[in-house]
Amino acid sequence: MRVLDSEHCPALDVVVADHVALPASRAHDAAFVRLNMISSADGGSAVAGLSGGLGNRIDHAVFNALRAGADAVLVGAGTVAAEHYGAPTVPGLQIYVVTGHPDITGAPELFASGRATFVVPDDGPPVPAGVPELRAGTGGKVDLKQVVGALAGKVVVAEGGPTLAGALTALGLVDEFFLTVSPRVVAGDSARVVHGDGADPKVWHLRHGFVDDDGFLFLRYAKVAEPR
Ligand SMILES: NC(=O)c1ccc[n+]([C@@H]2O[C@H](COP(=O)([O-])OP(=O)(O)OC[C@H]3O[C@@H](n4cnc5c(N)ncnc54)[C@H](OP(=O)(O)O)[C@@H]3O)[C@@H](O)[C@H]2O)c1
Repeated sequence: MRVLDSEHCPALDVVVADHVALPASRAHDAAFVRLNMISSADGGSAVAGLSGGLGNRIDHAVFNALRAGADAVLVGAGTVAAEHYGAPTVPGLQIYVVTGHPDITGAPELFASGRATFVVPDDGPPVPAGVPELRAGTGGKVDLKQVVGALAGKVVVAEGGPTLAGALTALGLVDEFFLTVSPRVVAGDSARVVHGDGADPKVWHLRHGFVDDDGFLFLRYAKVAEPR
């Protein structure tokens, strides 16, 4: 596996760009969904309630590169509030916040920016004035398959958290899984990075990977093998 010297490697941008390069062919009847998560070595998803306690500079570079190549971010309301999401710096990038209870108080800057859309069930409560909405599903649950269909042709980065990641995965809606393994053993009670109903346990394909000199592993799995 390639080892990257994080301080001195002049090719950091190149390695990260290779890592996130979009596949040449993608289905166009639904969004292309790239799930990006970071896990501790023992499977935790947060330290003191935040994923930021797990990352490093190169993980941030991968996060930013994925955003730069995306049309939209799909993220759960729990993460937006816990991580105090702000306005995205990538021009044109729209943040779709999945929730049954639309509320702007956890990330006021994001919702004031005009770059966030609430994704709520058809029968969910009204969204706060001025925030665009996408409606899908009933019974208090967003129909994520419908959402991925509504975003057909777009590249979507799913940024978690574990609940949304689990729901997307169980429904078979994730095309690629970017996993950073942080060399920390954190114990605690945070969820696994993908958590909830079971998904098809078939083998995924390792499309790319590297390790940095701090021992962080950067893995990219694809559900479907790339055509040779
Ligand atoms: N390690 C990582 O890579 C990573 C990444 C992101 C976040 N995190 C951490 O994960 C923690 C948050 O975890 P979480 O699992 O609560 O986050 P989450 O998945 O972002 O948020 C869960 C919330 O999203 C909404 N939601 C998800 N699926 C839905 C559906 N189908 N229909 C309607 N609403 C839906 C619900 O919001 P309502 O309750 O508002 O209805 C649900 O309570 C934080 O500590 C954060 O720092 C870790």
